Amino acid sequence: DVIDVRSLSGMGIFTYDPGFVSTAACESGITYIDGDKGILLHRGYPIEQLAEKSDYLEVCYLLLNGELPSPQQKAEFVNIVMNHTMVHEQITYFFRGFRRDAHPMAIMVACVGALSAFYHDSLDISDPHHREVCAFRLIAKMPTLAAMCYKYSIGQPFMYPRNNLAYAENFLHMMFGTPCSDSKPNPVLAKAMDRIFMLHADHEQNASTSTVRLAGSSGANPFACIASGIAALWGPAHGGANEAVLSMLQEIGDESRIPEFIKRAKDPDDSFRLMGFGHRVYHNFDPRATVMKASCDEVLKELGKSDDPLLKIARQLEQIALKDDYFIKRKLYPNVDFYSGIILNAIGIPTNMFTVIFAVARTIGWISHWSEFHSSPNRIGRPRQLYTGVKQRDY
Ligand code: ACO
Repeated sequence: DVIDVRSLSGMGIFTYDPGFVSTAACESGITYIDGDKGILLHRGYPIEQLAEKSDYLEVCYLLLNGELPSPQQKAEFVNIVMNHTMVHEQITYFFRGFRRDAHPMAIMVACVGALSAFYHDSLDISDPHHREVCAFRLIAKMPTLAAMCYKYSIGQPFMYPRNNLAYAENFLHMMFGTPCSDSKPNPVLAKAMDRIFMLHADHEQNASTSTVRLAGSSGANPFACIASGIAALWGPAHGGANEAVLSMLQEIGDESRIPEFIKRAKDPDDSFRLMGFGHRVYHNFDPRATVMKASCDEVLKELGKSDDPLLKIARQLEQIALKDDYFIKRKLYPNVDFYSGIILNAIGIPTNMFTVIFAVARTIGWISHWSEFHSSPNRIGRPRQLYTGVKQRDY
């Protein structure tokens, strides 16, 4: 049941909902989730069908425009995105200001925010065309910036994008290519990368998307809004979970130690949680986790790593947790990040880049919600509070 408090505000009704578990902050036509049934739809299309038949840039088009593109519309969209992949050469100086061991999410927050200082020609947020140009720039430049973070951290030269490659292929080229080689990324790995982008593309009003919408509600610069989303995504309870899953599997180290970690996860006096398990909205299987698991098998097979020790621990952990009363009672199932870390690790992506990849993928969700917000009459977001401090007193 939905109570629309707008109609009750004149009656002085005030709701208190920490964590926004029961409060809708907006209306949206982009993504639908039924957490009890494990359903995720983008513009009405089930995520499983999109993962099987579509690709990331097509899903970007769908999220932004509401409909799947015709072949011609798709070709034009891909062409425009791939022609916006370069970043201004001045951006390279921002990188040089960072320590080589800086966390790449710190660099991403800074550099994406800094894009605000470069593009002044399309900042009329009431103009749909201007909003579209912002979207193109962001979708196109995020992989370039992400790969630059990695190259900078290992002291290799930045790789310029190759716009004749597909989106995910180009990302792998910028990550792992060198000026001395012109080899093309492995197609199985490129497909898995594309799927990781697609499965993370949007998830309605999660913490980072809500942050972007709230920042956007003040009329702030779109690149600054996306930087705020990246900052919100960084935390281990949100996008940082895939990094935390891998660290946890490495810490477990051996199947024999799983019961010890399960015991810790159930102990109310221990803050340890099974990373990659549980979800605010899904109280059933996260449909993205099922697709991710299949993708994980494909990648490990391709790389001849089917007996990867981390995968074995992950599978065993999943089996044990799914039969455990604690997890059953609380409806805690593996989420999308449980398997994505293993794929990224197998592809050769370092752990501290995992959340950056999530940010690259989620950019389309953020910008679609930002654009949706600005496409209809709106007002600044301004949550209220219950004041619990001291009463008025004299100085
Ligand atoms: N391991 C052990 N226990 C857990 C876990 C877990 N991963 N997740 C929830 N619980 C328990 C809680 O301790 C609590 O138990 P209690 O009722 O005895 O107090 C109960 O389940 C409900 O948990 P909440 O924290 O109230 O659930 P909430 O909806 O606030 O949190 C969250 C959801 C943050 C995802 C949580 O499940 C978690 O921390 N999971 C691990 C981190 C993770 O994988 N995050 C990725 C989310 S997906 C994404 O961002 C793409």
